[in-house]
Amino acid sequence: MGRVGALVCLGLVVLATWPVPAAAQPPAESCVACHLEVGDDRLATPAKEFGNSVHAAKGFGCVSCHGGDANEAGMEAMDPAKGYIGKPDREQISQVCSRCHSDARFMKRYNPAMRVDQLTEYITSVHGRRLMELGDDKVATCADCHTAHAIKPPSDPRSSVHPLRVADTCGSCHADAKRMEAYNIPTDQLQEYKQSVHWKMVSVKGDLSAPTCNDCHGNHGATPPGISWVGNVCGQCHVVQAELFTKSAHAKIFVDLGTPGCATCHENHAVTRASDDMLGLGEGAVCAGCHALDDKGGEIAAGLRERIDLLRGEYDKAHAILLKAERAGMEVSQAEFELSGAKDALVKAQAAVHAFTVEAVKKEADAGLAIAAKGYERGVQALEDLQFRRKGLAVSVVIILALIGGLVVKIRQLERKT
Ligand code: HEC
Ligand code: HEC
Ligand code: HEC
Ligand code: HEC
Ligand code: HEC
Ligand code: HEC
Ligand code: HEC
Ligand code: HEC
Ligand code: HEC
Repeated sequence: MGRVGALVCLGLVVLATWPVPAAAQPPAESCVACHLEVGDDRLATPAKEFGNSVHAAKGFGCVSCHGGDANEAGMEAMDPAKGYIGKPDREQISQVCSRCHSDARFMKRYNPAMRVDQLTEYITSVHGRRLMELGDDKVATCADCHTAHAIKPPSDPRSSVHPLRVADTCGSCHADAKRMEAYNIPTDQLQEYKQSVHWKMVSVKGDLSAPTCNDCHGNHGATPPGISWVGNVCGQCHVVQAELFTKSAHAKIFVDLGTPGCATCHENHAVTRASDDMLGLGEGAVCAGCHALDDKGGEIAAGLRERIDLLRGEYDKAHAILLKAERAGMEVSQAEFELSGAKDALVKAQAAVHAFTVEAVKKEADAGLAIAAKGYERGVQALEDLQFRRKGLAVSVVIILALIGGLVVKIRQLERKT
């Protein structure tokens, strides 16, 4: 912590000695004009991209990051004596940005709600620490994630850190095996994440409440507030499962085993939709990786699966008979509505799996079984009623036919008499 503290202090010293612009300057005309003219893409691209950025929109110019004098038309605009720093080297970038972004008073003038802790967070992240402590310049700097010149608010769909784009931004390094060669870490996070239910929710359903890279790892590399370890982040959204898991036998055992919590059974990046097949000792069951029928955990695992299968079976049975009655024209909408309670119970029982006890699952499943039994009974009743009505109809038809027959006979008798 001492080192980090020292780094923060160092950062603050640099900030204090680097004057913040008194106010937003008008766009730096001479820099842009000349850079667009010299016919070198490396020099022109920044000038072109900058025009659409949030900083240009706020009235800042090139000098706000690079220094120099925008009123000079010639090469003397880039005179170090006028504060020109050239292209900042990678270790310098975070200082260039946080000169403004860590200055609460300055930022308040533009946006009182804007956070000013990006540098503080960044230098405690793996990226920031490696850069500042080890001089490792392959890690992400502010400009790698945000770009240097095309910076836009994260909510802008064109921003490199918009929820739909941030995974590719992180992946530009983390999925690049060559770039990551020196580090002994996997490079499959992007590929795996793109197969996950989370990415599907974000990209197909447009549900931005599902996580992308920075929701789990923190915007600036430090894990989100209140989370001591990224493995615990799942519980921020999946509250019920996390509460049950934390109190379960596995919570402590998994720490001793050195396996992650939720990710042991769900993966961290390739989180797929859960299914009953994950439970028990059959094929695809996660429990089978550590348990067998001859140990207590395995026995319980198989038992939990049986309960859930039973409930699903009973629900299906009740649902089918009510459907049959409905198709035959019987009024069963109330019964069908009540049966949906059994479906809810199934969902609750699936969540209760995370307590890894028979009681927890049994409690939810039994409630569902009772509802399913009632629903089934109502279906049987409806079909019986239908049967009864049909019989009644048949009997009345017979009686009516008999009456008509009797009448015909009577009429003929009368006719013969006359
Ligand atoms: C008269 C033309 C001209 C003007 C005006 C000008 N530049 Fe340049 N700039 C250049 C040229 C040419 C280079 C390439 C110089 C080199 O490679 O040594 C360059 C390079 C740069 C670089 C890259 C330096 C590097 O190390 O790669 C930056 C950053 C830069 N200019 C910023 C600015 C800023 C900020 C201003 C305005 C204050 C400005 N320029 C004004 C012509 C100009
Ligand atoms: C918000 C801060 C910021 C502003 C404003 C800014 N730059 Fe930069 N610029 C950077 C950073 C950071 C880098 C280094 C990027 C990197 O290392 O990838 C850079 C790099 C450059 C380079 C070198 C590009 C290269 O590929 O070598 C040029 C040229 C340049 N800027 C010109 C400009 C011009 C011209 C403007 C005004 C239109 C401008 N910059 C405005 C932050 C800024
Ligand atoms: C001269 C001061 C200054 C410098 C230097 C600066 N910024 Fe900014 N930045 C601002 C201001 C002011 C805003 C606009 C805040 C607002 O009005 O919402 C802003 C906005 C942003 C936003 C959009 C935030 C949002 O939620 O809307 C991002 C991202 C950003 N800056 C990143 C950077 C990065 C990365 C660098 C360094 C490469 C940098 N800034 C350098 C002053 C600066
Ligand atoms: C590893 C990638 C990464 C790095 C490095 C990074 N940022 Fe960010 N930044 C993000 C993401 C992701 C967001 C938030 C996106 C969102 O809110 O959905 C963000 C948000 C921001 C915002 C908007 C306000 C906020 O805090 O949410 C500002 C300003 C900002 N960053 C500045 C910086 C500065 C300054 C640095 C360098 C000290 C930096 N960033 C380094 C990825 C990064
Ligand atoms: C410019 C390239 C680059 C970008 C962009 C980048 N990273 Fe990194 N990241 C690295 C490098 C290099 C390391 C160091 C690897 C190591 O820890 O040994 C690293 C380390 C990490 C680590 C720690 C890995 C470990 O356990 O050692 C995490 C987590 C991480 N990055 C997440 C992200 C996320 C999330 C984003 C996007 C918001 C991102 N990175 C963007 C290059 C990058
Ligand atoms: C749902 C949460 C979640 C999302 C989304 C997520 N991660 Fe992770 N990530 C984790 C967890 C949990 C770990 C394991 C941490 C540990 O074991 O210390 C991890 C580990 C990592 C590591 C360390 C190396 C490794 O693979 O174990 C890197 C690098 C990383 N993630 C990058 C990314 C990138 C890049 C993205 C987006 C493409 C991403 N993560 C999306 C939760 C997530
Ligand atoms: C930022 C919130 C958030 C975080 C963090 C998060 N998730 Fe999710 N997760 C969601 C959302 C939203 C869905 C989609 C909900 C749905 O359709 O049922 C989802 C879906 C799931 C599903 C599929 C649910 C099903 O019905 O089959 C699983 C399993 C899952 N997440 C596990 C995890 C794990 C494990 C982690 C941590 C590594 C994690 N989640 C982190 C929000 C989050
Ligand atoms: C990473 C390995 C691992 C996985 C996967 C795993 N367990 Fe366990 N579980 C253990 C260990 C180790 C113990 C403690 C030793 C024991 O009782 O077997 C344990 C204990 C249990 C217990 C408590 C047994 C008792 O003695 O009361 C139950 C119940 C249990 N597990 C159920 C499950 C279920 C259900 C699954 C699948 C959803 C599962 N486990 C998946 C490793 C695992
Ligand atoms: C020991 C294995 C195991 C662990 C650890 C585990 N789960 Fe699960 N999880 C399962 C199984 C098995 C299912 C499927 C239950 C079913 O559908 O019958 C499941 C289902 C889910 C679902 C979707 C179904 C639902 O409504 O519950 C979510 C969401 C989920 N888990 C999140 C988490 C989170 C968050 C954690 C960590 C706090 C976690 N899981 C830890 C085994 C595990």
